[in-house]
Amino acid sequence: MVSIAVSSLVEDYLVNQRISSLTKAANSTAVQVAPYLSDDDAGTMYDIVVNNGNDSGGRFLVLNSSGIVAVDSFSDLNGVKLSDREVNDILYGRNSSSYGFHSINDPGSGNFWAVYCTSSIVHNGQVIGAVLYSSSIQDVVNATAMLQERTLTIFLLACGIIIIISLFTTNLITKPIKKLTDVAIKISNGDLSQRANIRGKGEVAELAQTFDMMCGRIQNMDQQRSEFVSDASHELKTPLASMKILVESMLYQDNVPEEVYKEFLGDINGEIDRMNSLITDLLLLSKMDSDIVTINLEKVRISSIVNKCVNALEPIAKERNIRVRTDVSDDFELECDPLKLRQAINNLIENAIKYTSDGGHVFVTTKHHGGEGAVRIEDDGVGMSPEHLEHIFERFYRVDKARSRETGGTGLGLHIVRRIALMHGGRVDVESKEGKGSVFTLVVPLAQHTEDIL
Ligand SMILES: Nc1ncnc2c1ncn2[C@@H]1O[C@H](COP(=O)(O)OP(=O)(O)OP(=O)(O)O)[C@@H](O)[C@H]1O
Ligand SMILES: [Mg+2]
Repeated sequence: MVSIAVSSLVEDYLVNQRISSLTKAANSTAVQVAPYLSDDDAGTMYDIVVNNGNDSGGRFLVLNSSGIVAVDSFSDLNGVKLSDREVNDILYGRNSSSYGFHSINDPGSGNFWAVYCTSSIVHNGQVIGAVLYSSSIQDVVNATAMLQERTLTIFLLACGIIIIISLFTTNLITKPIKKLTDVAIKISNGDLSQRANIRGKGEVAELAQTFDMMCGRIQNMDQQRSEFVSDASHELKTPLASMKILVESMLYQDNVPEEVYKEFLGDINGEIDRMNSLITDLLLLSKMDSDIVTINLEKVRISSIVNKCVNALEPIAKERNIRVRTDVSDDFELECDPLKLRQAINNLIENAIKYTSDGGHVFVTTKHHGGEGAVRIEDDGVGMSPEHLEHIFERFYRVDKARSRETGGTGLGLHIVRRIALMHGGRVDVESKEGKGSVFTLVVPLAQHTEDIL
């Protein structure tokens, strides 16, 4: 379309140029022949038209007022009446000049397009005839046809190049998307190890890299979940197995003394307690995992939480002659979930008592500094060697499994403490020396205006 529009514009321009020059020549010839037409001087008129025709390379005809050819520069049409529209425009209309296009079929030069320009011959204020100037415009037609052909070729070539480039770039864009789709399908079919591995820059590469990161996290979570299920089932099976042994030994033994029954039933009761606390912890952890647990923030004084925990655990400590001292003189207000924070501090003090020999000491202190509040639980108990310290916050990790069984531990306590600390934007630190004791510090950000209250 562009090629047609361009070539037709050029054609119009060239044709108009040609018509204006032909009309000029016709006008000047009309002025020259006017006196000779009125005198019927065909010879002079012939000389003029032949001379002008040679100059401009066209054919001049001089027509009288009836449209009959008085003089023809080619001498063919003398005496012939012409009734072309351009002639009638002049002789019977009011135009002083006119033009029209004609397809000429000439046996000598073949088919070609010509333009006829006419101009009125005026003598003494009267139109006494017309000059018809005919000239071929086939050169213009040929030139514009060639122009159209060339522009069309250029446009087709350009289209071809654009198509090739766009196919190439489309392939570049769609290839990684296709890869990403394939990986997404494989992952949705359960193969979480799949990765797109698309390097480089650009939106698609960034999307693929984020996608890979997300898959990594999902795979990690999935692995943790299945480990959790297998660890939990294993932990639940252990008390069940010991209960079964106890029950069977009572069931299949004859004449079991009453004291033995009582002892075994006491052991079974202990295992039930252990299972109970394990299930409670597991439920809490699974709630934390599934984000069902929301923290209900309240402003609470740390002294009130610590005192409640110590009071609750005091009887257990007394039973084993362990002295629990507290120093909450550095009291501060925390914006926390009091129940959860109490559970965390409770787990830490309970551990300190549990892993301290009879007659030992536990010391609970509070301190705040630089926007953070800390509860420090120190004991002079069994302590731990450094290799255990990095694992004690993992689920079900116990330093001495046999000992923990005696003390009824499940290995979930510290994991819960750390989860609660993280929930509050805090952390748990530990220092310990085997045989000397341990110090656990729970650090939580202070309520915003705490500094002002104190
Ligand atoms: N104060 C401490 N002194 C020495 N060892 C400790 C102390 N606190 C924790 N530990 C060690 O870290 C391990 C993990 O503690 P954690 O509280 O998670 O589990 P647990 O006490 O065995 O069981 P529970 O889930 O019932 O608390 C314990 O088994 C114990 O070996
Ligand atoms: Mg514990």
